[in-house]
Amino acid sequence: MFRINENFLKLQGSYLFSTIASKVSAYTEANPDKKIIRLGIGDVTLPLCPAVIDRLHSAVDEMAVKETFKGYSPDLGYEFLRKAIADHDYKERGVDIDIDEIFVSDGAKSDSGNIGDIFSVDNKIAVCDPVYPVYVDTNVMAGRTGEFDKDKGVFRDVIYMPCTAENNFIPELPKETPDIIYLCFPNNPTGTTIPKAELQKWVDYALKVGAVIIYDAAYEAYITEDDVAHSIFECEGAKACAMELRSFSKNAGFTGTRLGFTVIPKELKCGDVTLNSLWARRHGTKFNGAPYIVQAAGAAVYTPEGQRQIKEQIAYYMNNAKIIREGLKSAGYDTYGGVNAPYIWMKTPHGMSSWDFFDYLLQKAGVVGTPGSGFGPHGEGYFRLTAFGDTENTKEAVERIIRTC
Ligand SMILES: Cc1ncc(COP(=O)(O)O)c(C=O)c1O
Repeated sequence: MFRINENFLKLQGSYLFSTIASKVSAYTEANPDKKIIRLGIGDVTLPLCPAVIDRLHSAVDEMAVKETFKGYSPDLGYEFLRKAIADHDYKERGVDIDIDEIFVSDGAKSDSGNIGDIFSVDNKIAVCDPVYPVYVDTNVMAGRTGEFDKDKGVFRDVIYMPCTAENNFIPELPKETPDIIYLCFPNNPTGTTIPKAELQKWVDYALKVGAVIIYDAAYEAYITEDDVAHSIFECEGAKACAMELRSFSKNAGFTGTRLGFTVIPKELKCGDVTLNSLWARRHGTKFNGAPYIVQAAGAAVYTPEGQRQIKEQIAYYMNNAKIIREGLKSAGYDTYGGVNAPYIWMKTPHGMSSWDFFDYLLQKAGVVGTPGSGFGPHGEGYFRLTAFGDTENTKEAVERIIRTC
């Protein structure tokens, strides 16, 4: 008789966003005439920019002609895209990345979940708390964690690194030594980030203890401050201890189009074995490539028009972030983030719990955000608002929050 992977049974309830969706749909059914403003899920709302759309159209036309038709893509992704990534995302920042160190994928969620395939289940992971839930849940599925401790709201055998207003949302180096460290800067959910000098401390630490850093830079395009690294490879020694995940979702609106990549430098080794070779093997065996038309569209992001157009979109979202941040701050709320990231992390008013505040805002203001506690126990008492909405709605949401609370 077959058996299931019982690690799945350790997972807690439904995924955060499913719970939110069901609460919102119950509210809409009960209040069909009320307008809801969604500043919850981190999905973009602006359409793909013209440079991307033009290239999508022309790539589709290529697929209709025998001479230019494309079947399976190369294992690591098309060279034209990997070269554009190496040149623009890395060389322009003084980082030398070989195109064989870049693995094109269908996004950072899959990569952050799948990367565990190349690591032993005995490894101990360290995550920030609050955290993007995918890092933890995929390690639970793989059997790299213990059971869920209901009292503490954490999985056993995982090192949680609190990130709160008290430590400026900068995780402290853990007392217990981890094997795999997940870092995400600019951060989802807190919208905060750390200066390059702080990131360098993590690189030094990983090198010292023999840990690997899985660095999620999905929000790199939102960095506005000069002392923040766009890539972990800007830190000295990082190529020997880190890999980096990137996404086209938030910088270029590919959430529904799907494109991302992972950079694994050849210096990153366990003994004599390069992680690059393991991921290449895994990629070649379990993944058959992002579609040609999507990779072609991804390359269009790096053209001068593409760059100009996506920068306009990012500026649009960051203006929303400013509206939320400054609006709530001037009304006396404690708000964080929103300067180098499209997320604003606010302290719930009157000591309310994150879910109580979620329900309160939904019922009284018709505004949907994300309860901070859904990202980990140290997210309790916080609430996440996203800047991905429409500007008029964002302004209205801020006014409604201020009026209601
Ligand atoms: C930190 C982080 N990493 C990865 C992703 C997923 O990116 P992608 O759309 O490329 O799968 C998200 C999406 O919200 C995210 O917040």
